[in-house]
Amino acid sequence: MFSRLLLSSITLLLFNGCSGARNWDYEPLSIETYSSDDSKAKFEAWVERDGRNHVFSAELTISYEMDERTMIQGTLYSSYSGYEDDYKPLPWSIENQTFQQFVIDFYTNVSYANLKPCSNLPEPANAYPFPMGTYTFTKCEVSGEGLPEIMAEGYYKIVLSSTGQVDVGFTGIARVTTKSDWRYY
Ligand SMILES: *[C@@H]1O[C@H](CO)[C@@H](O)[C@H](O)[C@H]1NC(C)=O
Ligand SMILES: *[C@@H]1O[C@H](CO)[C@@H](O)[C@H](O)[C@H]1NC(C)=O
Repeated sequence: MFSRLLLSSITLLLFNGCSGARNWDYEPLSIETYSSDDSKAKFEAWVERDGRNHVFSAELTISYEMDERTMIQGTLYSSYSGYEDDYKPLPWSIENQTFQQFVIDFYTNVSYANLKPCSNLPEPANAYPFPMGTYTFTKCEVSGEGLPEIMAEGYYKIVLSSTGQVDVGFTGIARVTTKSDWRYY
């Protein structure tokens, strides 16, 4: 199991930014949000059914200037069993960086690439400074853009937090399974 995790982490680093045939499917299980000040950032998210699939929806209202004080940090964990104590951090992470740097490193290729079809997120050229307003995410399915092509089966947890004028973030958990028709070439 360790080597599979290692493999998935390495391929994650190698394939980050590329798109192609991924070997995995996933099902979102839960998403929890928090905000230290709803008057600055109000964030609600939930998992719902859409036919046979589980998808997630969210509403995020930004009412503050996300400037150089705004920092973003993200960590991905995996657990073969899904038990809370088994989650281990993977090498893939978003190091604590300014929101402006996050826009350069991740917004275009990961956030916007995956969430554009289901949200009203601003185009990358207009993402910094981030326009205040309400962003809705409706029945989102992550296509896998900017994510690794190969991931080990198990449970994955992503924790994304933003600090600065307000502490806001989310924890999302998904179960990853190998596509039944996928083969190593
Ligand atoms: C990121 O850095 C800021 C200040 O530089 C700090 O307040 C914040 O706690 C850090 N975030 C994380 C998740 O460590
Ligand atoms: C985003 O993707 C493009 C095209 O694949 C690539 O040229 C660029 O280097 C990527 N940017 C980052 C920050 O990874």
